[in-house]
Amino acid sequence: MTDVAARPTPSPQVPEQAPLLEIEDVYAGYGGDDILQGISMEVYPGEIVCVIGPNGAGKSTVFKAVYGFVNIRKGRVRFDGQEITHARPQEVIQAGIAMVPQLPSIFPQMTVYENLEMGLFLERDKRKIVERIEYVLELFPRLEERRKVMAGALSGGERRMLEIGRALLIQPKMLLMDEPSAGLAPLVTRTIFQNIQRLNREIGLTVLMIEQNVRQGLEASHRGYVLELGRNSYQGPAQELLHNPEVRRAFLGGR
Ligand SMILES: Nc1ncnc2c1ncn2[C@@H]1O[C@H](COP(=O)(O)OP(=O)(O)OP(=O)(O)O)[C@@H](O)[C@H]1O
Ligand SMILES: [Mg+2]
Repeated sequence: MTDVAARPTPSPQVPEQAPLLEIEDVYAGYGGDDILQGISMEVYPGEIVCVIGPNGAGKSTVFKAVYGFVNIRKGRVRFDGQEITHARPQEVIQAGIAMVPQLPSIFPQMTVYENLEMGLFLERDKRKIVERIEYVLELFPRLEERRKVMAGALSGGERRMLEIGRALLIQPKMLLMDEPSAGLAPLVTRTIFQNIQRLNREIGLTVLMIEQNVRQGLEASHRGYVLELGRNSYQGPAQELLHNPEVRRAFLGGR
């Protein structure tokens, strides 16, 4: 398979369209000095956007700020026309943002199906739970095949798909993914990105993902942002970033 085949369809962004997620000049941290020092990002409906940057740049902190896990001291965040700057995680979920965190989050001693049930543990409506789980299993035939298997027996790629599937149970408008390729072999990473692109095409899922795997991450995305030391450095169409000499030197081994 060539890299060209792996590229997403052109960005659906049209200039007059409002961003789905808008992060505006955000300052936030963990109580001491601000880690984020005026971060801005926009994600338009139907886009896959990739955030890259060195370790400690503040990438995960951006997600935590959006999700309400860290306090935003200055700046604001809007989602789908609603201000969510100081929203609590539960309110962010209700607004339609799901997140797959950086650290593995499945329960290895439970089956695939039970792991999916855990994703809806606050839901009381039994019929809705079954419907949502079946919806996710339809999106991931591999999980459907393995629904009764202990999650601990899944491959790394299958586990990641289970985490993504569990995030999709709330039928979010947008998915935040913190390093979806972490710990996966290159071929498995490719499968994960292909699945992300497929969800983007098939259900119109808008995606904001952080990636250390810069080349594959950008190749699967429409646009990208580079963060350094809690600030924006470069941004633009993914293909432009892949060809940007500074980005190549810093993140692609100069090749
Ligand atoms: N819970 C925390 N309490 C205090 N400081 C933290 C906490 N989490 C992260 N930091 C600090 O915030 C800075 C940014 O961390 P963050 O996790 O956002 O970086 P990152 O860009 O996601 O890095 P990586 O690529 O390693 O995942 C780092 O200096 C880190 O030490
Ligand atoms: Mg991180």
